[in-house]
Amino acid sequence: MVDLEKLLNKALEKISAATDVTQVEDIRIAYLGRKGSVTLAFKDLLILEAEEKKAKGQELNEVKKKIEASLETKTRQLLEKERSDLETREWIDVTSPGAKHLSGHAHLVTKTTREMIDIFSRLGFEVVDGPEIETDWYNFEALNMPKGHPVRDTQATFFVDENLVLRTQTSPVQIRVMQNQKPPIRVIVPGKTYRRDYDVTHTPMFHQLEGLVVDKGVTLADLKGTMEVFVKLFFGEDRKIRLRPHHFAFTEPSIELDISCGICAGNGCRACKYTGWLEIAGAGMVHPNVLRNGGIDPEEYQGFAFGFGIERPAMLRSNIDDLRLFFDNDLRFLEQF
Ligand code: DAH
Repeated sequence: MVDLEKLLNKALEKISAATDVTQVEDIRIAYLGRKGSVTLAFKDLLILEAEEKKAKGQELNEVKKKIEASLETKTRQLLEKERSDLETREWIDVTSPGAKHLSGHAHLVTKTTREMIDIFSRLGFEVVDGPEIETDWYNFEALNMPKGHPVRDTQATFFVDENLVLRTQTSPVQIRVMQNQKPPIRVIVPGKTYRRDYDVTHTPMFHQLEGLVVDKGVTLADLKGTMEVFVKLFFGEDRKIRLRPHHFAFTEPSIELDISCGICAGNGCRACKYTGWLEIAGAGMVHPNVLRNGGIDPEEYQGFAFGFGIERPAMLRSNIDDLRLFFDNDLRFLEQF
């Protein structure tokens, strides 16, 4: 006959060490199943004398009950623990505020472009498009910038081949429009331009917004009026403009457009290099050669043209001091706009 006390202690020890209900079930089978140790011990009783059989039988019954009770308690404990673990794991605070839903938005360059288009549309300008890979003729030659002319050096060019360039300016679209449209012409051309430059105010790809007006009797006063309306709508009523003589090959006369500095109200500060003015666009009266290259008779028609950067006005309005930030795609920057 087995040592019942040892058997009981061993069983209780195993039950107490069990960590899940399948282990508990295995222990039950090992002791109380058809071939379990307790079941076999009952069979061993058969060979004993009546007196001893009775005593051992009672003892064995006690052992069986204790094991059963212990199994039951353990199972209940494990199920209880599983439920409370689940509650901790899947606990939901129904009063907590919802997670913020992040949504994308248009890039600052796109937003600024749309805003500029909106203003010029109200002035009757139509948006047109042109190729970003241009021929040498459209990008330079037709704009009065002949081969070998030093003025070409001001536009550090990406060449695709001898005859093709990534357009260095949106101005070639002026020629394309004149070739395809009869005056009166009133168009703007927002788009990408390319130059081999990289520093705080230059990136190899940037955006410009070109403007062209061709009609009978167009004067510099029309250009000035158009610039004034744009500046006041885009930057604010309080801004002043100034036209400063300059040189562009494709305009005559040429001017640069300055706006009064928004930080110091024209008094002079670091942002405007103590001049009170910020340069914002190139412009001028379309050169007769350029009109001719577009198939328009300069004796009959006059025109004015202008070219804005798109990033620069955005930088001035939002106090951004490094152009490269626009294209780094850092969400911490982009999310602010
Ligand atoms: N295309 C010139 C540039 O990229 C900007 C410009 C100046 C455009 C004068 C014009 C203009 O239409 O009239 O520097």
